[in-house]
Parts: sequence; structure tokens; C-alpha cells
Amino acid sequence: MCPPVHYTVSYSINPWMDPTEPVDPALALLQWEDLRDRYRALGHTVEILDPVPGLPDMVFAANGATVVDGRVLGARFANPERTGEAPAHLAWFRGHGFPEVREPAHVNEAEGDFAVTSSWLLAGRGFRSSLSSHPEAQEFFGRPVIGLELIDPRFYHLDTALAVLDEAGDEIMYYPGAFSPGTRAVLARLFPGALLAAAEDAAAFGLNAVSDGLHVLLPHTARGLRAPLRERGFEPVPVDMSELHKAGGSVKCCTLEIRPAHAGVPAPLP
Ligand code: ARG
Repeated sequence: MCPPVHYTVSYSINPWMDPTEPVDPALALLQWEDLRDRYRALGHTVEILDPVPGLPDMVFAANGATVVDGRVLGARFANPERTGEAPAHLAWFRGHGFPEVREPAHVNEAEGDFAVTSSWLLAGRGFRSSLSSHPEAQEFFGRPVIGLELIDPRFYHLDTALAVLDEAGDEIMYYPGAFSPGTRAVLARLFPGALLAAAEDAAAFGLNAVSDGLHVLLPHTARGLRAPLRERGFEPVPVDMSELHKAGGSVKCCTLEIRPAHAGVPAPLP
């Protein structure tokens, strides 16, 4: 996670960002600290990436790298406003002893558009990550990529429209309206039991959630998701991220998940 020390909305690269609307940086920091503390209270380790002045969106750490089996694929941002974030992420992983850190050739906004299940790497496209980033990620991680076409500019990253609830069990929730008809059919085929979010909950960033397989941290305004999550055995943990929503991000955007290499995982590719 990267604290929103330099957070502001000074440009607009998605429909949520209105530079004329005031942002309360102190409140943004409090909300971010609350999220960090909840992760720690749930027993998760939180590593901190130092924020860089002049990069107000750097709080959205999920866009900086994708880490699967301890292998790190960096990001290449679509918008010039954010390109400076990518090297900071690469440097952090290299400095923390990750042996395999790759700078990508193609535009990809990391976990903004890549989601991991046990079977697949789900990969969004349409607004940010390029089509050519999909085979690049498949080759790097050795996991089959399922390309998913986003069609609604409010849901410009995959992680605004779909969340993995249980990586091991391939359990997800998503908002069908964010995807093309063909992609909706693909999702229905692969995940027939998925939790389908209503438009209001999607608009409240309810899909921008982080699950540890039991607890699901999500914006408190996405109320409609709580009961169906409980019915499926998950424990919703509502948090207030309202100041970050002004830049088009919420819980998941602020969280880059480090998936370590561990026993049972195939050896790194040569
Ligand atoms: N203002 C940022 C952008 O438009 C928000 C990024 C949100 N991050 C995410 N993982 N969806 O790039």
C-alpha cells in the first residue's frame, strides 16, 4: 500500500475525477490508514511503498505491479500522468529481493486489469490495459489468460467491475453491465455460481473489494452485497473510502496483493 500523502484530483483520466470538486487530503489519509489497520488487525502483513511527490494517483498501488507465485510483472500506464509510478514499483520489488521482476513491453495497469483465480488470469481490456498485454502476461506467469472486454467508462478497470472472492475455489462476484455481451457469456460459462452485483452496488465501488478468502473488505455504501456475501460464507468488512472514490478508486485499488511462491506451486518458468 502507498499512503495518499500527495493525493489530490488535479487531472481527469476517468469519469469519476472532477478536478473542480474539492478533495480533503487529511480525510483521505485517515480512510487509508483505517484500511491498512484493518488488514493488520485481520493478521495480514502490510508493506508500505514510499509515495512520490507529483504522483497523486500513486495511492492506487494495485495498478503498479501484478505478483503471482512470487513473480512480478510491472505496469506500463496508459496515461502520461501516471507513467512515473511504474519505476517506483519495480524498484521496490527489486529492493525487496524478488528474483523475477519484469518490466512489461505492453501497456498494462496491473491488478487494475488482472485478477487471479486458481485456474486463470482474468484480464480486462477496453480502456487501459492493451490487448497485447494479455499474451505477455500469459507467457510471463504461465497461466491461461481469459480476456474480458469492458464497455462502460465508469468501470474502466476490471477491478471496478469484478472481484475474486476465493482464489482457490474460483469464486467471484461481478457486475454484468460493465462487460460486452460476449464477455458476459464467457463469465456465465466459467463462473455459473458467481455473485452478480446490482448497478447501485457497482456504482458504489462494491466490486472494488479485497477478499482473503473469508473477510471481504468493501465500501460501506455497497450495502446490497453484504447479505449475499454472508449467505456464501464470507464476512463483509465495510470501510469508508469516500475521498478516494473522487479519483475513481476504492479498497482494491489501494491494495496490491503480493502472492508469494509457495510449496505446491510449479517451479518458476525458465
Ligand atoms: N485515478 C486513477 C486512475 O484513473 C484511479 C485508479 C484506480 N485503481 C484501480 N485499481 N482501479 O488511473
